[in-house]
Amino acid sequence: MTQQRFPVLSRVLHWLMAAMIIAMLFIGIGMMSSLADYHWLVSIHKPLGIAILVLAAIRLVNRLINPPPPLPWGMPPLMRFAALGSHVLLYALMFAVPLVGWGMLSAARYPIVLCGAFELPPILPQGDMLFAALRTTHTVLALLLFATFLVHLAAALMHALVFRDGVFESMASVSAGRSGPGGPTRGATTREYGTTAEARGSRGTR
Ligand code: HEM
Ligand code: HEM
Repeated sequence: MTQQRFPVLSRVLHWLMAAMIIAMLFIGIGMMSSLADYHWLVSIHKPLGIAILVLAAIRLVNRLINPPPPLPWGMPPLMRFAALGSHVLLYALMFAVPLVGWGMLSAARYPIVLCGAFELPPILPQGDMLFAALRTTHTVLALLLFATFLVHLAAALMHALVFRDGVFESMASVSAGRSGPGGPTRGATTREYGTTAEARGSRGTR
């Protein structure tokens, strides 16, 4: 019984970005609910959001170079589809939310100061209607990201606590390297999706 883990860089990027994105969602809501804290929160929100955009690009390239380990053998097709679909949606939102943020400030011709005198160039033409549309889109997509994250969190906890199939450990493990045959076993706590003894705990192709 073997369990493959995500490559170290994938795990580091995942947890770093998870912390950054969750912080951003709360900073965004804090900005909107406290006028006194608006300015200093927005001065963190913009560079942190652009950092997420840059890291999302690095993460996508890394995923193409270092593909994730296969899902457990025998996982029902609907669950595979849900896992893949939610990951695609999370990637799309990791790009779309910061890009729309950058775009909306461009449409308002608002300076996008990252640090000191370093400013980002506008990516869209100036326009009040465009700004209004992108301002709403930024909120809607941020809320969609939050909702998708909650579903993702629930799925991760189901894998960790109910299925015990090694999926959670493949991302949460802190040891270096990707384990293959001869790596750590998942042991008797592993929940098998398949029915045959050979199928137990083995990870097939997605
Ligand atoms: C993953 C990245 C991001 C997340 C999760 C995020 C999330 C949010 C949230 C939740 C709000 C509050 C929305 C509301 O209550 O209506 C907000 C507002 C805002 N965001 Fe973002 N954001 C991100 C990236 C960015 C980027 C890259 C920029 C600009 C470069 C940006 C600029 C803004 C601004 C200026 C506001 C406040 C607008 C106003 O004062 O009306 N955001 N964001
Ligand atoms: C906003 C925060 C988060 C985002 C955007 C996010 C995004 C992702 C993405 C895109 C993947 C696919 C693998 C990859 O390409 O990196 C993934 C996998 C995974 N995530 Fe998250 N994640 C977040 C938070 C969390 C949290 C809080 C947990 C657990 C408590 C978690 C547990 C997992 C697990 C176990 C996997 C592996 C799933 C598999 O192999 O199918 N994630 N996450």
